Amino acid sequence: MKRAIYPGSFDPITNGHLDILHRACEVFDEVIVLVAVNPNKHFNFTPKERVEMIKDAVKGMKGVTVDYYEGLTVKYAKEHNAPHLIRGLRAVTDFEYEFQLASANEYVDESIDMVFFMARGDKTFISSSAIMELANSGVDVSKLVPDSVYQKIKK
Ligand code: COA
Repeated sequence: MKRAIYPGSFDPITNGHLDILHRACEVFDEVIVLVAVNPNKHFNFTPKERVEMIKDAVKGMKGVTVDYYEGLTVKYAKEHNAPHLIRGLRAVTDFEYEFQLASANEYVDESIDMVFFMARGDKTFISSSAIMELANSGVDVSKLVPDSVYQKIKK
């Protein structure tokens, strides 16, 4: 049984994240989408709201579960017997950030490895903060996020 963790802030989850998740599910039997804490961010949604929106978005996806954790992602991965962390790459700028994250994770526990999926061309501009900025300016973001997120943003 191959199990992996897909960690992120998911503030909120986007169709870009979901595309990565769908593709990860073709490689792994089980994927835990983990709402983790990035201390450098100010969040739009509470952890509970983010978890609820993701749960709704992944309904019906076989082998996918959702969780929230406040500690180090590699520790969670170890505790849950999931030796792979999934991340998406959109551009060269993502690479530098991910390289640092991977190095820090490796320092903590080198038995946990990272697996990267390249974002599809039409999804490379999507980010959680861009979506919130567009939505706050009245732009229709319904094609960029799952319905659970769209309904929440509309409120
Ligand atoms: N599609 C759409 N957007 C994507 C994307 C994709 N394929 N890949 C990345 N992004 C965007 C996100 O929308 C987000 O945009 P934003 O910055 O505008 O909000 C950004 O890229 C990255 O966010 P996300 O992938 O949600 O997670 P993150 O970088 O905030 O997450 C953690 C980092 C939470 C995984 C990391 O901080 C962590 O593991 N924290 C726990 C503590 C820990 O273990 N720290 C170890 C390092 S010291």
